Amino acid sequence: GVQVQQPVAEEYHDIIATLPCRPSMHEYQGTWILDDWLPGRMAFRRRFEARAGDVVLASLPKCGTTWLKALAFATAARDRYDPSSSGGGERRHPLRRLNPHECVPFVEVVYNAGEEAKLDAAPSPRIISTHAPYSLLPASITQSSTCKIIYISREPKDMLISLWHFINKRCKPNIIPFSDIWNSIYNDAYPESPIREHILGYWNMSKIQSDRVLFLKYEDVLRDPIKNVEKIAEFIGQPFSDAEKEAGIIESIVKLCSLENLKALATNSTGNYQRLMKEVPSESFFRKGVVGDWANYVTPDMAERMDKFLAEKFHGSGFSF
Ligand code: A3P
Repeated sequence: GVQVQQPVAEEYHDIIATLPCRPSMHEYQGTWILDDWLPGRMAFRRRFEARAGDVVLASLPKCGTTWLKALAFATAARDRYDPSSSGGGERRHPLRRLNPHECVPFVEVVYNAGEEAKLDAAPSPRIISTHAPYSLLPASITQSSTCKIIYISREPKDMLISLWHFINKRCKPNIIPFSDIWNSIYNDAYPESPIREHILGYWNMSKIQSDRVLFLKYEDVLRDPIKNVEKIAEFIGQPFSDAEKEAGIIESIVKLCSLENLKALATNSTGNYQRLMKEVPSESFFRKGVVGDWANYVTPDMAERMDKFLAEKFHGSGFSF
């Protein structure tokens, strides 16, 4: 018969009630997770069954997740969907009619909606995404020799400015005080904190097992998108052939996934994208997409204090922003 999915929020309610908490977050196994995300995260950790060749995109919020989803999806699906075609109908590229978050869903969102059957039904290789730290990935992913993990990091001051804009798009007219967002780095209140563990978890694995974990930086992808798309393609085992390169397919992917292009599409400039308990305006995922926008919002003193704090935090790790 048809199995009715018990809503995950209800399923994990009793466990969550025992966890350390602060406003709108609980601490689950060492990570501060937004309440909206937590039940889906727990279900992901406990129930997800990796398949050979699955590709997992991971990030902290506001580090370029949307872009990575678009680039990885367009690259992996290039045989099915021509990135250079702007035609309509059957072969119309999914990124021209759907938000990148609909092309590559967050697993937390899928579980939260009780839609895990969709994960089972998806053809291999699947591309999924998560904001989970490495330590909270399901064992079936971390113990698989064939699952591929791509992480994207971003300079934290820009990440914070991005989050502030993103949240305020939804909270109007109750603007969140900027200091609350800025201080979230100092008091481990940024979603998925501590960010040191989040970043280094993936960074260290990318050093130990470079065939399983690819570590990207938002700034690098901005500087040289072509090179980074080539990296992604090679990493997921679908390198570009010489013929593809000559035909300009990498450039087509970069163009299709560019901020200007995605932002202008009707699917991304109007309407809402249903996520967890709330609807999020589709356009809120596409803003400025530059390096150093923080300088328009904070004083040099604030920036210097933050840089120093982060340098000390990451001291000796081999990682720098
Ligand atoms: P800004 O707010 O600094 O502009 P995430 O996708 O993880 O939520 O991150 C959002 C950030 O990525 C935003 O940064 C957004 O503008 C930027 N972004 C979204 N799509 C992009 C794209 N196609 N190319 C470059 N940056 C993009």
